[in-house]
Amino acid sequence: MSTSQDPIAKKAEVADWFRRAAPIYFSPFFSYPGMRLVELSGVKPNAKVLDICTGVGAVLFPTADVVGLDGHVTGIDIAGKMVQATATRIVMNGLSNAHAQQMDAERLEFPDASFDYVMCGFGLSFFPDLTLALTEMQRVLKPGGVLAVSMWAEGNELADVYRKLADDFRVPHPGLASNPLRTADALKDALQSAGCSDVATTAEQVKVIFDSKQEYWAQRMPIEQLASEQLAEDRQGPFRRAVFDLLEDFIYVDGVHEVRNVLYAVATISK
Ligand SMILES: C[S@@+](CC[C@H](N)C(=O)[O-])C[C@H]1O[C@@H](n2cnc3c(N)ncnc32)[C@H](O)[C@@H]1O
Repeated sequence: MSTSQDPIAKKAEVADWFRRAAPIYFSPFFSYPGMRLVELSGVKPNAKVLDICTGVGAVLFPTADVVGLDGHVTGIDIAGKMVQATATRIVMNGLSNAHAQQMDAERLEFPDASFDYVMCGFGLSFFPDLTLALTEMQRVLKPGGVLAVSMWAEGNELADVYRKLADDFRVPHPGLASNPLRTADALKDALQSAGCSDVATTAEQVKVIFDSKQEYWAQRMPIEQLASEQLAEDRQGPFRRAVFDLLEDFIYVDGVHEVRNVLYAVATISK
């Protein structure tokens, strides 16, 4: 459970969890949806793009590929460690058309109409004031600009049984989400209520295949990894064994299959 309903404390809590998650955030769950969000947004060469909640750059790096040397992508994130990880990768990849900086999505430090596209991959759930964040996103977009977002949808079989098992073991769940938005209608309604018109949603699945149960354990969702580390030491082994048992239902010849449902929404801003 989240420890706070106060919006400032809630954001600090979110930032702290993601600070700790940054070193393990290169997760197979994020790379494909990041590329897909870029495709669905229709981002063009030369565009100026803002990637909100950039994390370790699952959206930023494919965007940088598309916008090319005459475009630019700015990644922002509330967790300084995420920003550092992305900034380091930008330098290591020799990119001159991308940079990352620490910033709160609810207080964007850019003038009005600064960007052609605003992206936000798996970030909307974390804003205590979603309407404010969505208003800020629209403010920094140029007229005719595009807002493209993704969210995890409900109904993920392995994730759901994992969660139930974790609850049975009393794994402390951080409860970081202020806005679950786990259906296409909920996502569309949230965008429309914040003033976005012309919203198109797409529902797809992403499948990750882990070579083995051990690989699943080592690469499962980063926040789940951190949460289970909080279990008492003598409960860690039994929990891991119970997870391995439940994975039996998800094993195929090539490994453990995990399928997650993803929602994408793309809106054009007609200010
Ligand atoms: C689930 S990760 C997604 C990262 C990336 N977009 C991706 O698709 O892999 C969510 C990110 O949102 C960031 N975040 C949460 N609240 C934020 C806020 N108020 N402002 C900016 N970033 C925030 C977190 O620090 C975290 O890096």
